[in-house]
Amino acid sequence: MSSTYTASITAPVNIATLKYWGKRDTSLNLPTNSSISVTLDQADLKTTTSAMASADFTKDRLWLNGEEDLQLSQSKRLTQVLSSLKEKRRLREAKDESLEKISSWFVHIVSVNNFPTAAGLASSAAGFAALVVCIAKLFELDDDMTELSKIARQGSGSACRSLFGGFVAWEMGSLADGSDSKAVEVCPLNHWPEMKACVLVACADKKDVSSTSGMQLTVKTSDLFQKRIDEVVPERFEQMKKSIHDKNFALFAELTMKDSNSFHATCLDSYPPIFYMNDTSKKIVKLVHLINAFYNETIVAYTFDAGPNAVLYYLEQNELKLMSFIYAMFKDLNGWETKYSTEELNKFISNYDS
Ligand code: DP6
Repeated sequence: MSSTYTASITAPVNIATLKYWGKRDTSLNLPTNSSISVTLDQADLKTTTSAMASADFTKDRLWLNGEEDLQLSQSKRLTQVLSSLKEKRRLREAKDESLEKISSWFVHIVSVNNFPTAAGLASSAAGFAALVVCIAKLFELDDDMTELSKIARQGSGSACRSLFGGFVAWEMGSLADGSDSKAVEVCPLNHWPEMKACVLVACADKKDVSSTSGMQLTVKTSDLFQKRIDEVVPERFEQMKKSIHDKNFALFAELTMKDSNSFHATCLDSYPPIFYMNDTSKKIVKLVHLINAFYNETIVAYTFDAGPNAVLYYLEQNELKLMSFIYAMFKDLNGWETKYSTEELNKFISNYDS
């Protein structure tokens, strides 16, 4: 029996605080702006991927959440990612005679998400990051994460940021071949371990406009978009990195919320308009501003990707202050606006604070 190679890894979801929205090159997946994200804890939202290479396999195959993806060979992104990794292995084999020639073998891949797929919870980010790191391990490649991020980027742009933990930037780069469009670490998680994220699932259904087609429509039709990429994002990118380095939560939160709003504004400004946020999302936005006003301090930030679900960022020491509000509001979703007065919430929160 011939030998087989196996590898297994998990990759976490990352949630952008400065959004990637727009491609300047669709085949290399090069963005129109740089972006920043926070990679969530592996224990929470993650993709687990296992792969096996064998001389006996007759084609590449992929199983996603228990079901085989029969369109694998038609998926340009998947085949591009796989062939880039096989090519890297082939180059290693050419240099090192002792390596078995497995670059020409087929692989079988099994990938499982522990959260809703394609519901605006960055499933493609964790999925492609897991795939790239898993196959790189299978092929015993010695490339660093920044190098591998360029391959993950071709699978799904946001995936390149999931190769690092903590606070991560995807530098858009300026070269036409994409060789400088890569993910880099801004700060590791232990730089700001008090930072926490909470996901409020407003709807776990699959989104109806994919990020890929949504952003293309925005690039083509939105007037606001050009201002966003020329003026707004470049400055915000520097400010946000500084707020992370300085651990300035109020500034980080303000930039995060403004960027989420700016991104959704360009979606609304697309023609026909794209709506990712629903009524529950809007309630969450109002609630967050209410909470920050209530405490007279910015203790929480919201951000929404291409879907209605909210991710809230806050510091651990403010968890009870925040959660008491969330609980009070959402234990009865339909009536929260009228049901709880500020006085009642005040009383509720003071119980927690005492
Ligand atoms: C709103 O990375 O899913 O989540 O590169 O076409 O696969 P493709 O798009 P994708 O878009 C993510 C968009 C976003 C913002 C972000 O994560 O930065």
